[in-house]
Amino acid sequence: MKALVYHGPGKRAWEDVPDPTIVEPTDAIVRIDSSTICGTDLHILKGDVPEVKPGTILGHEAVGTVVETGSAVTTIAPGDRVLVSCITACGRCRFCKEGHYGLCTGGGGWIFGHLIDGLQAEYARVPFADTSVYKVPPALSDEQVLFLADILPTAYEVGVLNGRVEPGDTIAVVGAGPIGLATIMTAKLHTPGRIVAIDLADARLEKAREFGADVVINNGTDDAVAKVMELTGGLGVDVAVEAVGVPATFELCAELIRPGGRVANVGVHGHPATLHLEKLWIRDVLITTGLVDTSTTPKLLRLIEGGRLDPTVFATHHFALAEAEKAYDVFAAAAETHALKVVLTAVPADRTLVASEQELAGVG
Ligand SMILES: NC(=O)c1ccc[n+]([C@@H]2O[C@H](COP(=O)([O-])OP(=O)(O)OC[C@H]3O[C@@H](n4cnc5c(N)ncnc54)[C@H](O)[C@@H]3O)[C@@H](O)[C@H]2O)c1
Ligand SMILES: [Zn+2]
Ligand SMILES: [Zn+2]
Repeated sequence: MKALVYHGPGKRAWEDVPDPTIVEPTDAIVRIDSSTICGTDLHILKGDVPEVKPGTILGHEAVGTVVETGSAVTTIAPGDRVLVSCITACGRCRFCKEGHYGLCTGGGGWIFGHLIDGLQAEYARVPFADTSVYKVPPALSDEQVLFLADILPTAYEVGVLNGRVEPGDTIAVVGAGPIGLATIMTAKLHTPGRIVAIDLADARLEKAREFGADVVINNGTDDAVAKVMELTGGLGVDVAVEAVGVPATFELCAELIRPGGRVANVGVHGHPATLHLEKLWIRDVLITTGLVDTSTTPKLLRLIEGGRLDPTVFATHHFALAEAEKAYDVFAAAAETHALKVVLTAVPADRTLVASEQELAGVG
């Protein structure tokens, strides 16, 4: 089969690799029908995630079709369409039993495109298949559910739920990339009073407005703290969600928060940030951190099925799976291309392609 393989910092290639096979009886083999690229994949390519060994297939988000199951798999069968999420759950360890799949100590957690081969490939081996994949309702398209593999549960769990967003709250979302925008989208499920989006890029702030932000602030040209204090009668916001992952934005969140408010950090930090306890200790501020568990995936899936949530707006660019390298270039140049999420679609196995599709898929 073909797959997008990481070959060390700055190097990746769509190339021939051996087909995956069942290794454990709890495995399934899934044909990848749709996949996408995450900001974390770009971090890996920069060499920021040294656990990813050269030779690893990248990607941790996909929708696919089961083609084979191990002898212990009982809840899915060949032919089933499934969402393969960024988090895998052994289902047996203490953390899985508590629904904290992200912390799985039984071999799960974030493993795809990290510790084992990932999902930007024609096929993938999916460990702990029974406890890790989600059957896709037949009425839903791949694109409607694909972003449940990472950004939606991440934003909802680590941003909205950790931040305890309540009806009427004023919330600040710092960073309006896919994660910040997904935070805005899922925060609206809790009917906040006002959503303030803060970013350095005007194009991203425009998107934030489309996603439902009531106020946008460019903190490169404006004083975000002064503006937020003006909006909130000098108190600060009820909830600040950090969706960037640099020290300046974490420290900004701590300044934007009202006494008794909540700061929910979602960003992945590569450098130490300063915690100003000398100012915060007396203000009863709650600060949370977290890796996504994907425990809310079934709930978010029901909301999509019920027409209450439409994540397809994240899909700004489409490529054939075989064009993964081009898709990486477009995704990495988001400042110019305005990409949010790129969708990689495999050539359907049960259909002959017309000439234009063959060209797009790089086959024929
Ligand atoms: N905790 C988790 O489980 C988890 C899961 C997935 C992603 N993440 C992390 O969430 C973060 C956001 O992800 P993304 O895909 O949206 O990233 P992104 O890079 O696409 O978006 C970040 C946004 O922040 C803006 N920004 C950069 N510096 C800023 C500053 N100083 N002030 C204000 N805005 C600034 C950028 O213009 C951009 O719009 C990343 O750190 C990512 O690794 C965390
Ligand atoms: Zn991701
Ligand atoms: Zn576990």
